[in-house]
Amino acid sequence: MVLSTQTSATTLDGAALRRDFPILNQPQPEGRPPLAFLDSAASSQKPEQVIQAIDTYYRTINANIHRGVYELSEAATAAYEAARQTMATFLNARQARECIFVRNTTEAINLAANAWGRSNLTANDRIVLTVMEHHSNLVPWHMLREEIGFSIDYIPLTDDHQLDMTVYAQLLEQKPKLVGFAHVSNAIGALNDVAAMTRMAHDAGAAVLVDAAQSVPHMPVDVQALDVDFLALSGHKMVGPMGSGVLYGKRELLEAMPPYMGGGSMIRKVTLDGTTFADIPARFEAGTPAVADQVGLAAAADYLTAVGLEAIREHELELLDYAMEQLPSVPHLTMYGPEDLSKRSGVISFTLGSIHPHDVAAILDGENIAVRAGHHCAQPLMAALGVVATTRASFYMYNTRDDVDRLVAGLHKANEVFGQV
Ligand code: ALA
Repeated sequence: MVLSTQTSATTLDGAALRRDFPILNQPQPEGRPPLAFLDSAASSQKPEQVIQAIDTYYRTINANIHRGVYELSEAATAAYEAARQTMATFLNARQARECIFVRNTTEAINLAANAWGRSNLTANDRIVLTVMEHHSNLVPWHMLREEIGFSIDYIPLTDDHQLDMTVYAQLLEQKPKLVGFAHVSNAIGALNDVAAMTRMAHDAGAAVLVDAAQSVPHMPVDVQALDVDFLALSGHKMVGPMGSGVLYGKRELLEAMPPYMGGGSMIRKVTLDGTTFADIPARFEAGTPAVADQVGLAAAADYLTAVGLEAIREHELELLDYAMEQLPSVPHLTMYGPEDLSKRSGVISFTLGSIHPHDVAAILDGENIAVRAGHHCAQPLMAALGVVATTRASFYMYNTRDDVDRLVAGLHKANEVFGQV
């Protein structure tokens, strides 16, 4: 396995790591180049180690958990709770019960909005979000605002496509109850200073929720060092299975929250007159959970730890730097996101003259280069940038300079095909 040579490396060999990812090594039809997968911001590929963990779970210990008293059920329960401990260690949470298993970041934020928001927000309150949020950190709050009637203020962008910290400081003077923001913008890759923003929010008396879907897979994230109150992540973006994820919450906040969904497993006692609820984390995990997927998520966290998150970040920054040297050779290219590369993740969002972003993506697909095009579930951000859509290339540990070269060549080809000279 490639991993054995990677454990203490400070730089990665993307080409070697690719060998861990079966989908990147599939034979291609005659004449078609290998897949240049530049859409990991949407969903990453999965290494053999994660696929094997899920396979082993189903082959050897599958049973429902927290219910059976037989050996197999106890083994499945142990695997699920061990996965929770792995995720707590991975995020440096103080306790495993601070990690609630969910299906994805969207579910994590909906849980926080409904359970924390419903019991902490009134019509007179304010919360602060940002214009660069994914819809998953906007829509749940819009829906709750319809019911409760609180106000939402938004941190705007600077000309350099970063969050405007001056306006943020002003918004905090209005004493919001919560500040919610993405660690990294999924659409333009802007990297926000979570520690500083959290300190400012706490000084103003606000709780902090961070959408870490685009950061946890790509850089070290330590919830205690950042001191965030809630942090949401998706397994499928961090080489883990689809349908896996975590809402981290500080124990004292989670313990004070009512449940979000009711049903099996989340109760202490049910009579015909009513229900009392289980302690955390079970209180927030109604029904049979995605046991194999969360076990796979833990395998993904172990994989990232073995590769090294600092090395992954360094590798992506190196690719970003290289791409920023090469891309200006492409006529008509407009890129979005901060110019300072240290304030970015490995995401490049762009438009190519008057060619529709979907057409750009289709031409790239013709070269077997996978990118995403559209509004990236961030329509308010697109509006702030003055576009309806962009094309987005996103890097991960298994990408190489060759992928960047092919992207650049593909964009030259798109210009040619559309007669843009
Ligand atoms: N949130 C994912 C993306 O940015 C799907 O593409």
